[in-house]
Amino acid sequence: MSHTPTDWWRRAVIYQVYPRSFADSDGDGLGDLPGITAHLPYLRDLGVDAVWISPFYPSPQKDAGYDVADYCDVDPLFGSLADADTLIATAHDLGLRIIVDLVPNHTSDRHEWFQAALASAPGSLERDRYMFRDIDENDPDTPPNNWESNFGGAAWSKTEGATGGDQWYLHLFDSSQPDLNWENQEVRDMFDGVLRFWLDRGVDGFRVDVAHGMIKEPGLPDVEVHDAEADVDDAAMASASTPYWDRDGVHDIYRRWRKILDSYSTDTAERIMVAEAWVQPIDRIARYVRPDEHHQAFNFSFLDTRWDPAALREVISESYRVNDAVGAPTTWVLSNHDVIRHATRLALAPEEAVTQLAGPVTEPDRTVGLSRARAATTLMLGLPGSAYLYQGEELGLPEVLDIPDDRRQDPTFFRTRGTDSPELGRDGCRVPVPWSADEVRSPATDKAEPWLPQPEIFADLAVDRQTGDASSTLELYRSLLHLRKELGLADGTARVLETVTDTDTVAVEVTPAEEADGSVLIVANLGTDDWPVPADRQVIAASRPGVTTSVPTDCTVWLAGLGSHVE
Ligand code: NOJ
Repeated sequence: MSHTPTDWWRRAVIYQVYPRSFADSDGDGLGDLPGITAHLPYLRDLGVDAVWISPFYPSPQKDAGYDVADYCDVDPLFGSLADADTLIATAHDLGLRIIVDLVPNHTSDRHEWFQAALASAPGSLERDRYMFRDIDENDPDTPPNNWESNFGGAAWSKTEGATGGDQWYLHLFDSSQPDLNWENQEVRDMFDGVLRFWLDRGVDGFRVDVAHGMIKEPGLPDVEVHDAEADVDDAAMASASTPYWDRDGVHDIYRRWRKILDSYSTDTAERIMVAEAWVQPIDRIARYVRPDEHHQAFNFSFLDTRWDPAALREVISESYRVNDAVGAPTTWVLSNHDVIRHATRLALAPEEAVTQLAGPVTEPDRTVGLSRARAATTLMLGLPGSAYLYQGEELGLPEVLDIPDDRRQDPTFFRTRGTDSPELGRDGCRVPVPWSADEVRSPATDKAEPWLPQPEIFADLAVDRQTGDASSTLELYRSLLHLRKELGLADGTARVLETVTDTDTVAVEVTPAEEADGSVLIVANLGTDDWPVPADRQVIAASRPGVTTSVPTDCTVWLAGLGSHVE
């Protein structure tokens, strides 16, 4: 598709920063905004186009900031509003765009609205901003319905000793994250204001948290039991019959927000939204990226796919089919702060869950995991569309599986401990980024320990160890990002080849918008035998060093026609 400068997001690679684990500028063990600002040149040099920053707003940090107490300020843990302004301005000077996180499904219980609700009587305007329901005097311990929290346990808690009187309140996540009532006009108006607040400060867009969750089925009917079980097993991938996920009403909210974003867009750049919507089947996700809604939606079906050639071929074809139908780009993603890092996930045994680890597990083979992760990324970055990277994946960081229980912080761990389905939680993908091997091995005595312990292996994978080493994962990411841009792959068209390759490969022919150099063939070899490079093609990028004529197992190559000027 041809492009104008405004639609930068169609081809953008966007890097996710998880602030507490990115860069700690003041030595308190927690990353912060000045730390991010200081490392923006690193991100520019890496070759990304934009940075999405997970929440840094005032919060009791019960869910690492996804429990927001004030949407229009910065938590002192991370800095100040002035630091946010500096970060945005510095990014823009470097040619990077900034996307911030918007958390509209729930607030923190410390938000002034929830505090006001607790102090007000049932039936009051203050309570109507949330999902309160009466306690049945004859059955006071049975919640209003059977919905389960995404983090384990019931999705209802009782207010305890609220001065306004006790009721149940709904929380699809932790009990400290009460769900808002999006049927209430004040809630809608408040979020319009939040969008404007950050747009006025210059941000380029929003990542919308739980974008499929804000509207609940009227009457709040029980979940059919098989759905409740599926939710727990499948990291909350929604099915159309779940009464709190993927209701049609969410789309009205996005149409309203799109108008606000469009009113801030300029002829050099559109302001964008990206939906975090765990919905299936894949056709449902395309509804979030219709022309008057979100610009992008994370392709979690791709992230969820196992290292299996047929499954990958199918998800890639289907992704283009459903997104092309609404004129949207496909938004590839392999890792984020909620799922097992792909350098570990792709080597897990088939019986393990794809995104959440249940209980203690034996670490899968690290070498296999890293080879597959590099191959998966090389496949993803060759594909037309946009892509998100999660901090540390460019270093090949594995999931950290041996965090001591007393250091874990994810509410999922605590809410599922001692139940039939205990989960380790998401701390293992949130361990702070290692910038220097020495800092991991011999931490400075005048600095606090990182909020989660960094394992020894992080020293070998530190940024300073990988920089300049052509065989490193970091240099692989740099070269792929630069070549992808140079070739214009992201704007191209893709065709998944079903017949010309054998069944153990995933082969996609990408024709750049400017066809001067001909097509690029992206081939991932998932088989046990080497795959011979066709005689009329040459390797222009490979997920392993030194690949020229034969592609080994768990390796992806980009192939240009012989004679193409691309080297
Ligand atoms: C999705 C976020 O990515 C996750 O980290 C958070 O716990 C939930 N939404 C609740 O906000």
